[in-house]
Amino acid sequence: MSNESNNIPSWIKILFGGVLLAGVAYAVYFHAGNPTTHASQFHNAVYSNVVKATVEIIPVRNAASIANGEKSYKTACAGCHGGNMEGGFGPNLNDGTWLHEIKTESGLVRLINMGIAPADAKSPGKSMPPKGGQKLSGEQIWEIVYYIGSKNGSVIKDSPAQ
Ligand code: HEC
Repeated sequence: MSNESNNIPSWIKILFGGVLLAGVAYAVYFHAGNPTTHASQFHNAVYSNVVKATVEIIPVRNAASIANGEKSYKTACAGCHGGNMEGGFGPNLNDGTWLHEIKTESGLVRLINMGIAPADAKSPGKSMPPKGGQKLSGEQIWEIVYYIGSKNGSVIKDSPAQ
């Protein structure tokens, strides 16, 4: 009589061997050869210098935030747009005429964040650096927009923080 292992049908041996091989191949691929292992994904995420903003802090429009906005405007924007928004190198910001037709608070925040590249500028040879070239926080940009809106009635108040 043949021994027990010889009684196992060959198709089971092939199936078993195949699953074993696939398991070994999977282990080698994910823990040795593949550069995007879980460990390196963790490393990329934790040691990255790039901070992705997930929440924007939008200040409430009130006397205090408008006063903060005036201070920031004077240092970051007045050089090009004038101390009273009367214009200079950049256009005036105190009347209902807008070169870019952006009048909502949220739209102005986006414009100031992005600046205006030379290719997008309406005035030939002019441009505006992102954030006016300053390191302004998102909160400070909202405050500046509230300040502009406090002097310019054509700004449409659509801030979500009210
Ligand atoms: C280096 C000069 C410079 C600085 C600093 C600057 N801007 Fe500008 N800004 C410009 C110019 C130039 C334009 C117009 C570009 C064009 O012709 O399209 C402009 C356009 C704008 C517009 C669009 C106006 C319109 O009529 O559509 C807004 C709003 C604006 N600036 C806000 C700001 C604010 C707020 C700051 C400060 C955080 C700032 N800018 C700082 C030069 C500047």
